[in-house]
Amino acid sequence: MESAVPHQSGHDEGRSARTHRQREYWSGRYAEDPNLFGESESALAHWGLKAVGNVPPGGTLIELGCGNGRDLRYFQSLGYQVRGVDCAGDVPFRQLPHLQPLDIQCRDALEFLQQQGSSSVDVVYSNLFYNMDFTEEDHRELFREAARVLRPGGFHLYSVRTVKDRWYGRGRKVGEDTYDSTPDGTTMHFFSSEYARRLRPDELTLVQEEEFEKGKGDFPIQVLYIAERKRGGP
Ligand SMILES: C[S@@+](CC[C@H](N)C(=O)[O-])C[C@H]1O[C@@H](n2cnc3c(N)ncnc32)[C@H](O)[C@@H]1O
Repeated sequence: MESAVPHQSGHDEGRSARTHRQREYWSGRYAEDPNLFGESESALAHWGLKAVGNVPPGGTLIELGCGNGRDLRYFQSLGYQVRGVDCAGDVPFRQLPHLQPLDIQCRDALEFLQQQGSSSVDVVYSNLFYNMDFTEEDHRELFREAARVLRPGGFHLYSVRTVKDRWYGRGRKVGEDTYDSTPDGTTMHFFSSEYARRLRPDELTLVQEEEFEKGKGDFPIQVLYIAERKRGGP
């Protein structure tokens, strides 16, 4: 029977309510399996470093939506100073005992970026994070902040699932290219190359973009890998 009160989800809600729903969903998933996406670094970590010609180790790298920190651990092993944020924290962060509490924060990624100094970071990195429950306005704020915290010449590296993904269009449409698949999943905002270009602030230029099919067995996903550089710098 249909509820008299419409189910509030996805983009019907404000940003903090949507972050709260993301936290609930992802902390439940990590409670079932803290290494939900694996323990080894993602393919984006290798692609990203190659695309930007290997940022000199010792640089600062921050990761948005870092989950259990598999990529943070990898970048740290290469000598980068790493910091990360994920709103689901707690369970996945138990995989990161070597990071100081200040370097790994359980909160909303935009708030985390807003805490960082301008031109203080060499790389802003995220793997499949911008597909979360964000509106275009949220994305614009996140991208503006990413550009602000990067030093001139610094890199914005990210991956996103695309509108060609076979999971695109499943569930209830809650915004442009955004579907809420509750109770079988969560809200996902799929990207096109054109959308990624639209979000790019003037300070960032495209270095490389590639589309791949990734994932295994019955869970193939269509992803876009993007490397952008902040104008200026050496
Ligand atoms: C698809 S998972 C990817 C995790 C990780 N990057 C990896 O590759 O293993 C997306 C992550 O984004 C986090 N997330 C979703 N919305 C967030 C927000 N507003 N702020 C911070 N993290 C968020 C989720 O908790 C989840 O861990």
